[in-house]
Order: sequence, then structure tokens, then C-alpha cells
Amino acid sequence: MPASHIGGKLILNVVPMLLSVSLGFVLGMTYNSKFPNFYLPFVAPLPAPALPPSPPPPTLSPPLPPPPQNGRLQVGLTRSQATSSAMHNMTDEELLWWASMVPKVSSTPYHRAPKVAFLFLARGDLPLRPLWEKFFAGHQGLYSIYVHTDPSYTGSPPEDSVFYGRMIPSQKTRWGDVTLVAAERRLLANALLDVGNERFVLLSESCIPLYNFTAVHAVLTGTNTSFVEAIVTPARYNTLFAERNNITVAQWRKGAQWFEMDRSLALEVVSDATYFPTFRERCEGQRACLMDEHYMPTLQSVLRWPRNANRTLTFADWDRRRRTGFHPHTHRADEVTAELIGEIRGGARDGTNCSAYRDGAAGVCYVFARKFTPDTLQPLLRLAPRVMGFG
Ligand SMILES: *[C@@H]1O[C@H](CO)[C@@H](O)[C@H](O)[C@H]1NC(C)=O
Ligand SMILES: *[C@@H]1O[C@H](CO)[C@@H](O)[C@H](O)[C@H]1NC(C)=O
Ligand SMILES: *[C@@H]1O[C@H](CO)[C@@H](O)[C@H](O)[C@H]1NC(C)=O
Ligand SMILES: *[C@@H]1O[C@H](CO)[C@@H](O)[C@H](O)[C@H]1NC(C)=O
Ligand SMILES: *[C@@H]1O[C@H](CO)[C@@H](O)[C@H](O)[C@H]1NC(C)=O
Ligand SMILES: *[C@@H]1O[C@H](CO)[C@@H](O)[C@H](O)[C@H]1NC(C)=O
Repeated sequence: MPASHIGGKLILNVVPMLLSVSLGFVLGMTYNSKFPNFYLPFVAPLPAPALPPSPPPPTLSPPLPPPPQNGRLQVGLTRSQATSSAMHNMTDEELLWWASMVPKVSSTPYHRAPKVAFLFLARGDLPLRPLWEKFFAGHQGLYSIYVHTDPSYTGSPPEDSVFYGRMIPSQKTRWGDVTLVAAERRLLANALLDVGNERFVLLSESCIPLYNFTAVHAVLTGTNTSFVEAIVTPARYNTLFAERNNITVAQWRKGAQWFEMDRSLALEVVSDATYFPTFRERCEGQRACLMDEHYMPTLQSVLRWPRNANRTLTFADWDRRRRTGFHPHTHRADEVTAELIGEIRGGARDGTNCSAYRDGAAGVCYVFARKFTPDTLQPLLRLAPRVMGFG
């Protein structure tokens, strides 16, 4: 049976074999389009010249990888992004399961620079993509990109873009709804499949970087602290959370959904089968629940997560004079100046004294900001070389 005809459901039947049979079997997986691209350190095994003939492969075995060119071991972690698509055919259940795996050996034989996974939660096009492309330019191997869009979106960035082929299988989301959290978990899970990703950043199409890549990467990988905003508030607490999970009102938290987290917290998020179902039960179809602003902060609270700054590194302007209703202020083209970027970076824009923070970001206020309209692209591109240090 050709591997390409293996149904998604059968993957689970293969798993026990997978875990016990052979590494070669696992390696074969990375070449099967039905399976996630794991970026295992080995992409192809060394040729085995004098081995006895191997037993017949199991009927569901995916094809073995092609022989390595010139017989050298390729290191998957350094494989170029351009050759690999983020698309796959796994269900959410399969995806979360694969993503929840952790190596038992804690020390790694591969000494490599940690990667930052940039998770874009967007409706469709990324209007500020040219700015991000300039931001990423020249830093291959230090980042991964994943894009979740509305499933009806059929557009694609050009083939020479670092965003090309980085769309993940997506489902419909609604503001404030449980579907938004499901999308965030989907993004995290896809990024966890790449063992090189150490830090995970959630961004929207209206986010911008405030510094160049080197600086952002240094801040994010220079700490084991997660930046999940968590504010103590009883608002929107419901007794169902106590009935189902013993979550007390004192443990209840709220915060902006735009997080920066480390691998260990990301693993907790994708493998949470305790609290997420309660949030789903309580908040399905209920926008007023604002689940996207309560799930992650409350999860890290009930887990008593030891390394969280309780704040986000993504700026939003909530000033009463400028915000609109439930939403922070949106920056338009005529507002984009070096002064604005400077005020956001320095904390002046929201009156924060960031040098007082002792939380792993070493006094840095923010490394990203929102919300910027599509027409801010040109002014931002003009500012970037002088003010942000890229482009
Ligand atoms: C997903 O499945 C469809 C239909 O079987 C196939 O055409 C497509 O190539 C698969 N995509 C991936 C990324 O495996
Ligand atoms: C993060 O934790 C790992 C494992 O405990 C440790 O090896 C590493 O040095 C830590 N990194 C930072 C920046 O603290
Ligand atoms: C909640 O706490 C009570 C009393 O400590 C305990 O009996 C019960 O098993 C807990 N329930 C859950 C879902 O943790
Ligand atoms: C974050 O909040 C928790 C619980 O509310 C607290 O224990 C922890 O010290 C806070 N972290 C920082 C860096 O303030
Ligand atoms: C900001 O915090 C630092 C460190 O706590 C303190 O030395 C400084 O005076 C504060 N600046 C202002 C303007 O409050
Ligand atoms: C990147 O930003 C850092 C911090 O702002 C700066 O020191 C560095 O010179 C910048 N790099 C480039 C290439 O502009």
C-alpha cells in the first residue's frame, strides 16, 4: 500500500511499532508527507554497507529516506526553511499528541543556537510582511515562522519570501472565543515539532518588531522566563471552574493574549487536557467570556508556573484617551515617527519604569508592538534602518 494512501487515523496504530522497531523507521517518517516534519537531528542514516538483509518492512511502513548524498550525515536542524513546508494532514488530536513529546535525555549532543518560533495568528494577508522580511533577512537558522489564517484564505506570499509555505492547517476563529485559543495551541504544537525552537512568540498581522533581529533574539533566548501577562482579577470567573478543576477565584488571571514563552510552558499548554475542556465547556461560542485573555494566564497560575514575568513584551496602547472600546489604540501612518518608537521602547508611552523590572528581560520594556494599520508599512520601512537597526 503506497504510504501516501495511509489514512490519518492509521498513524496511531503504527505508533507502538514506531517506538520499538527502529530509528530507521522514525527517520523514514520525516520523508512521508503524512507525518510532521520533525527536524530530527538526523535526516538520513549513514549507509550501512555490510548489514544482513533487513526483515520485510511492516505493511504500513512509510518509504525509507533516499540515500544521503555523498554519504555524510546531514544535520536536520540546519536544514533551510525554504525546502520544507509547514503543511501536514494531521488532525488537532494527532498534532497535539506528537507535539507533547519530550526527549528523556536532557543533555543534547547538538550545540546549536536556540531558535525563536514566530507564530502569526492572522485572518489572511500579512500587510506588514515586507517589514518582517527585512527583519528576518540574514538570520536563517535562528527562527521559524508559522502562520495560522482563516481557512477560507487562499492567498500565498511569493516563493522567495521567508513566509512562503509556512501556513499551518487552520480552522475558523472568532474574537474572544475558544476557537482563538485552539488556534494558539495549534500554532504552538506545530512549532514544538521542531526541536530547535526554544522560544515561542504569538503575533498578529498588526504587530511590528521594535528592534532588529539580533536584539530581539538575544532578549528572548537570554532568559528562561515566560512573558504571559497575568493580572489578578475576579472578573469573568465562574464557579464551573471550581466545580470541574478546583480553580479558585484567587488563582483566576487575565492578560493580553500576545505571549512570549519558553518550550517547557509551551509543552504544558499543548498537553493540557485538564483545564482546556472546562474553558471549552464554559466558553464555547461565548465571546463575552474573552477566553483568549483568560486561558493562558490562568493556566500558568494553576500550574504555579515558577518562571513567568506576568507581563507581555508586546506593547499595546490602552491609554483611555486613545483606546476604542474593548480595543487598544490603532496606530496609523501619520503617527509613525522615531519619537513614537522611542516612547514605546522606553516605557514613556504607557508610563512604565521598565528599568525597575527584575524579570529576565533585563529592563527591556517591549520588543514588539501593536496595533499598526496596513498603511504604516511605508513609514515603518523608512524608519527601520535608522530607528530599529534593520532593513
Ligand atoms: C494531504 O492530503 C491530500 C489528499 O490526500 C494530499 O493531496 C496532500 O498532498 C496532503 N498534504 C500533505 C502536506 O501531506
Ligand atoms: C535555561 O534553563 C536551562 C536548563 O535548565 C539552562 O541550561 C540554561 O542555561 C537556562 N538559560 C538561561 C538563559 O537561564
Ligand atoms: C478538588 O478538591 C477536593 C478537596 O480538596 C478534592 O477532593 C477533589 O478531588 C478535587 N477535584 C479536582 C478535580 O481536582
Ligand atoms: C507572577 O505572579 C506570581 C503569582 O501571582 C508570583 O508568585 C510571581 O512572583 C510573579 N512574578 C514576577 C516576576 O513578579
Ligand atoms: C525607575 O526604577 C529604577 C530602579 O528601580 C529607579 O532607580 C529609578 O529611579 C526609577 N525611575 C523613575 C523615573 O521612577
Ligand atoms: C541591532 O540592535 C542593537 C540594539 O539596538 C544595536 O546595538 C545593533 O547595532 C543593531 N545591529 C545592526 C546591524 O544594526
